[in-house]
Amino acid sequence: MRIAIIGTGNVGKNLGAALENSNEVVYGSRDPTAAKTKLKGKNIIGINDAAKSADVIVLAVPYLAAKETIEKMRESIKGKIIIDVCNPLGSNFEWKKDSQDSAAEEIARQAHGAKVVKAFNTIFAENMKTGKVGKDKLTTFIAGDDEEAKNKVMDLARGIGMEPVDVGALKKARYIEPAGIMMIELGYAKNLGTNIGLKLVKQNK
Ligand SMILES: NC(=O)c1ccc[n+]([C@@H]2O[C@H](COP(=O)([O-])OP(=O)(O)OC[C@H]3O[C@@H](n4cnc5c(N)ncnc54)[C@H](OP(=O)(O)O)[C@@H]3O)[C@@H](O)[C@H]2O)c1
Repeated sequence: MRIAIIGTGNVGKNLGAALENSNEVVYGSRDPTAAKTKLKGKNIIGINDAAKSADVIVLAVPYLAAKETIEKMRESIKGKIIIDVCNPLGSNFEWKKDSQDSAAEEIARQAHGAKVVKAFNTIFAENMKTGKVGKDKLTTFIAGDDEEAKNKVMDLARGIGMEPVDVGALKKARYIEPAGIMMIELGYAKNLGTNIGLKLVKQNK
């Protein structure tokens, strides 16, 4: 699978490294030359070129930059899977959604024709490399309207050591996104740090 990671920040770097183990990964950046000084040795090209060349696109940019980023790759997203990892925060880390919408649904409206799947937003970037905190596999909560796309993303999550849990249709991202904000609150406001994560436990019947 060829995957385009759009955005070369914390998530781009760590999720990209994890996905590189069993996929071909290309990075899309607003400024590939500058990004190459951060992510040395990586294949970094322009946003639209990266999206055009890939089967799956990971949108790893700040929530406030999602719309302009989708515009830049609009001609290359039709029919493709877009993995939305974002936590909808404003410039002062304030929550930008109400309970009747989610960033994932907003992104799906903007990225018309693409198959948007919510994933990975509750996992700190540092833990995306292994999908674990210590020995514990982290749960990644998944939502999407296209079952085949969702299954592909769940396979990708398993491939990088996480335990995917299907929460349902894309609108269920309304439940997943607040969990991401809760993790940020615990990690930073409550000083637990980023070496924490969510794991769904269930008793086998
Ligand atoms: N950090 C985490 O632990 C974590 C965990 C889960 C989910 N998330 C979500 O993942 C997304 C990316 O987070 P991150 O921590 O990787 O952010 P980051 O370190 O700030 O990196 C974001 C990247 O997005 C690109 N970008 C495009 N337009 C931008 C703009 N207008 N302003 C700033 N950057 C822009 C930049 O790459 P180029 O300069 O190469 O274009 C930048 O390096 C966010 O939506 C966040 O909520 C983060």
